[in-house]
Amino acid sequence: MERVQKIISNSGYASRRKAEELIKEGRVLINGKVAILGDKVSSNDIITIDNEIITRNNGNYKYFLLNKPRGVVTTTKDDKGRKTVVDLIDSNVNVYPVGRLDYDTTGTLLLTNDGNLCNKLIHPKNNIEKVYLAKIKGFLSKENMEKLQKGVIIDNYKTSPCKVKQKSYDKKTNTALVMVTIHEGRNHQVKKMFASVGILVDKLTRLSFAGLNVKNLKSGEYRELTKKEVNVLYSLVK
Ligand code: URA
Repeated sequence: MERVQKIISNSGYASRRKAEELIKEGRVLINGKVAILGDKVSSNDIITIDNEIITRNNGNYKYFLLNKPRGVVTTTKDDKGRKTVVDLIDSNVNVYPVGRLDYDTTGTLLLTNDGNLCNKLIHPKNNIEKVYLAKIKGFLSKENMEKLQKGVIIDNYKTSPCKVKQKSYDKKTNTALVMVTIHEGRNHQVKKMFASVGILVDKLTRLSFAGLNVKNLKSGEYRELTKKEVNVLYSLVK
């Protein structure tokens, strides 16, 4: 028997704290009855959140690294019926994305059914490194580069110091490629950071996440992580 909030967080549906909130809000049912914080459940009990059945992974964990193409939503289900990142993975277990990439962002995305690791990788306290390559309109002045590096205000929040480097500038198209290394993962963070200094991001790709990259994968391709890679991820969130 395990506490219901633990099962919810292990399933990857929500963090432990969020699971507790959902229970308090009466949105979690055990066999059709409203759950109470601390309720214990067995493997036969059916847990639902907002009428969606929580699937348990029983220790059968899968970890996939996807080279996310443009035009795919980073979610498990889309209200508008658009293709999701999960649709690209052929797996006998239900995996979900670790964090989020925008519809038009491409590159490195991890998917798993290991809720515990997923919650830790996306928790800001673990400072997981994400490296992005942004194609911007115009070029990055030294002044704007320093502003971005020191931290800018987006959504009433100051971003943490980060690395920003202009890799190239194309005079013909008046665009530049800029590499940005951050340890946060706020919604549309990179685009908003550039927007705060008046720069538009034309294309965005994530080169790496937690040290993993998709250099050997074509757009839309994926592979399973090795045991060693999974161990490294665990060591990053200890
Ligand atoms: N920052 C963004 O603006 N978009 C992404 O998809 C990821 C990071």
